Amino acid sequence: MELRTIIGILFLFQIKVGEASRVPLTDQQHLVNTIFETYDKTLRPIEDTDSVTNVTLNPALYSILKTDEAAECIVIVQSFRMIWKDIFLSWDPSEFGGMKQLMIPINRIWYPDITFLNLIEMTIVVPEDNNYARINYDGTVLTTIDEVVTLHCKYYINMFPFDVQNCTMHAGSWMHTGEQMDIFYSTPTDLDQYNNNTEWELISFTARKEKAYYVTTESTWVDIYYDIVIQRKPTYYLLTFVLPCFIITSISIIGIFAPFNDSGDREEKVTMGLTTMLTMAIILTIITDKMPRTSEGMPLMAMYIMLQVAIAAANSFVAVFILYQQRKWTNGEPVPGWIRVITFLTLRKVKTGTKTRKTNNSSHYYGAKEPAIDIHAPLSEHMKQQLMVMNEMRGMMQQITEHIYDQEVEERLRKDWQRAAHRLDLIAMLLFLAFNLAVTLAFLVIGYLH
Ligand SMILES: *[C@@H]1O[C@H](CO)[C@@H](O)[C@H](O)[C@H]1NC(C)=O
Ligand SMILES: *[C@@H]1O[C@H](CO)[C@@H](O)[C@H](O)[C@H]1NC(C)=O
Ligand SMILES: *[C@@H]1O[C@H](CO)[C@@H](O)[C@H](O)[C@H]1NC(C)=O
Repeated sequence: MELRTIIGILFLFQIKVGEASRVPLTDQQHLVNTIFETYDKTLRPIEDTDSVTNVTLNPALYSILKTDEAAECIVIVQSFRMIWKDIFLSWDPSEFGGMKQLMIPINRIWYPDITFLNLIEMTIVVPEDNNYARINYDGTVLTTIDEVVTLHCKYYINMFPFDVQNCTMHAGSWMHTGEQMDIFYSTPTDLDQYNNNTEWELISFTARKEKAYYVTTESTWVDIYYDIVIQRKPTYYLLTFVLPCFIITSISIIGIFAPFNDSGDREEKVTMGLTTMLTMAIILTIITDKMPRTSEGMPLMAMYIMLQVAIAAANSFVAVFILYQQRKWTNGEPVPGWIRVITFLTLRKVKTGTKTRKTNNSSHYYGAKEPAIDIHAPLSEHMKQQLMVMNEMRGMMQQITEHIYDQEVEERLRKDWQRAAHRLDLIAMLLFLAFNLAVTLAFLVIGYLH
């Protein structure tokens, strides 16, 4: 490029700049120039050193984004508004063409160092140089900062999933004491733009002010607390955890105590109980994973699931006990009295008794008949042989009869036991089902009435 061209371009450019600077200043530019000639944004805008700056807070809660019980925090989205008076930002509108308001990026002016004292993390949605402060001619400044705030919040989970939580947003000046900066809150709190959360219902959002004297700094500090009171909607937990738990336990109760086949053999009882307990244990793990690991108490729901586990365990124990009792027929033991009493099994007792007596009678009968045959009497060889055969046959018959009686007794005993076991099963099943229902109802009643 030739030197002459470059000089030409520079010359043109100079002319342009010169022309622009010759345009008269607008009212706004004039005002900004006048104000910021001496403005120092690092100094608190006060006339004399012992005057206080009044700051009014008015946050608008947009939504509750997330709650994390295990990490003990709550994430909210809000528009944090602050109003204060800056005497160096006031002007007479008549001097500046009637201008009453001015918008200036926040980072060009002084603004209060209000912070959240229980803050964990904060994301500011609009960057500072795109975010404007609205300044009134009397020096009133309004700033609006949209932010996603993660606050520390202590959860009391004893009543989970019917719990109400009280999360507090603790706002205060970071460096200014109560003598330098006084903080106010405007009432009522702004909930116009609040969006409902699916898990939580917002009960209230209220502010309170406290002044605290700290010995270490020998000064009072002003704190504003915003209490966010939220109540959990329990439907999700009832449908995804409580209902399946109830159904699984009920099915396992029915399954364990139902007769498995016609012959009355019942196996797999312990296996079934164990499967139920495993399922419950997994559900319990899912629930407790969400909870903070405190020892302050157990959530209502965890207690409910533990009870379900206990019911499943008791189920298996009782089933095995009944099985064990039922096996007693192999030893020829009759059904004991207490089982008869609780199963109302009175009819068969008499029969078992007569059976036993019959067997005894029969042997006595044959024993009594024994002397009637005298093999030593003088008889012919043929008769003797016949008598011997008859004797043998009688002996065999006696054995067969005894055997049949034994079998009959055994069979009746077995049937008796089977009936008793079936009734025990039925009673246990009804009791457990009723208990399970009672536990579930109690859980719901405690939860909803709390
Ligand atoms: C600040 O507020 C207090 C109490 O409302 C009031 O007495 C005081 O004049 C205010 N100060 C300024 C500078 O507005
Ligand atoms: C929330 O907690 C604060 C501080 O513990 C208490 O002052 C306030 O009354 C509580 N709010 C509710 C509604 O329980
Ligand atoms: C939010 O919930 C409240 C109370 O449950 C209800 O009155 C309100 O209409 C809901 N708002 C929206 C936007 O769903």
